[in-house]
Amino acid sequence: MAFILGIESSCDETSVAIVENGEKIISEKTASQINIHALYGGVVPEIASRYHLEKISILTKMVFDESKIDPKKISAVAVTYGPGLVGPLLVGLSYAKGLSYALKVPLIGVNHMIGHLNAVFLFDRNIEFPCMVLMISGAHTEIVYMRSLNDFEIIGKSIDDAAGEAFDKVARMLGLPYPGGPQIDKAAKGGKPSYNFTKPKTEGKYDFSFSGLKTHVLYFLRDNKDFKLEDVASSFQETVASILVDKVVEAALEYHVKDVIVAGGVAANSAVRKKTEEASLKNNLVFHFPPLKYCTDNASMIAAAGWHEYKEGRFASLDLEAVPNLEV
Ligand code: KG4
Ligand code: ZN
Repeated sequence: MAFILGIESSCDETSVAIVENGEKIISEKTASQINIHALYGGVVPEIASRYHLEKISILTKMVFDESKIDPKKISAVAVTYGPGLVGPLLVGLSYAKGLSYALKVPLIGVNHMIGHLNAVFLFDRNIEFPCMVLMISGAHTEIVYMRSLNDFEIIGKSIDDAAGEAFDKVARMLGLPYPGGPQIDKAAKGGKPSYNFTKPKTEGKYDFSFSGLKTHVLYFLRDNKDFKLEDVASSFQETVASILVDKVVEAALEYHVKDVIVAGGVAANSAVRKKTEEASLKNNLVFHFPPLKYCTDNASMIAAAGWHEYKEGRFASLDLEAVPNLEV
């Protein structure tokens, strides 16, 4: 039995959790900074760092108080060391190093994107390898062929904006607050996909490009002053969702896998979820999503990813550095 303490601070959520054996969340506390950054239309790194610093020890104390777990029972401290914003990453990383030293337990460095993947495994063990992963967050859009938990290959990725970034930028064009993804999702519910936005072409079969689509929406808004916001939101969302789902389905069929994992913030999108339901019936695929709450950043997924490293004895030393552009 192992209790892993997870720490996440790569962007605008400070989160601390204790997870038992990579599958049971004992306690998790998350402080979101969304309301603060919404004032500026996006994450302000310096403000984010300060806020993480203010919250991290309070959240850790809350997690220990709620779980009633003696700090001496913690087996290891797992922390996000990239990708993300360097200042915010450093707050979590320094704090985790201090805890690991004080508690005399190993430090485990976790790749944030592998964390997102583990948000699925935390709740769903019914996934057969090899499988395909659609990783869609605010900074990443990738299709990953996974042979096992430790053996994977990126077969496609965005050559420009990430899917979440495209949602956030189009939301801003529409005058919707940050973060734009959930706002577009909400607005789209009151609209119809009546506008035809083009799906950008890419050279690599499984690569993505969202920058042309974003520009198309920009020109559309400039040239059509009487547009209906809800219809633009719905049309844009439908286009992005079908690009994402069509590509991962094609990859799953070509690689002959049955199970497809969708992870990262954009996995919360209702059109993405709906399209996967249709695709699963049509192509006999099984899609796996994290519960909605665990699509976005949280420390439970970091602790769960840390558990796999813990089992393998892969520990970091206290000179582990933050790597803002860490790859999967
Ligand atoms: O994974 P995440 O919390 O942070 C990163 O690791 O980047 O993802 C945040 C991204 C943001 O771009 C946000 O707009 C998007 O996920 N997002 C959504 C939805 N919920 C969050 N995008 C579309 N539809 C949603 N419902
Ligand atoms: Zn994330």
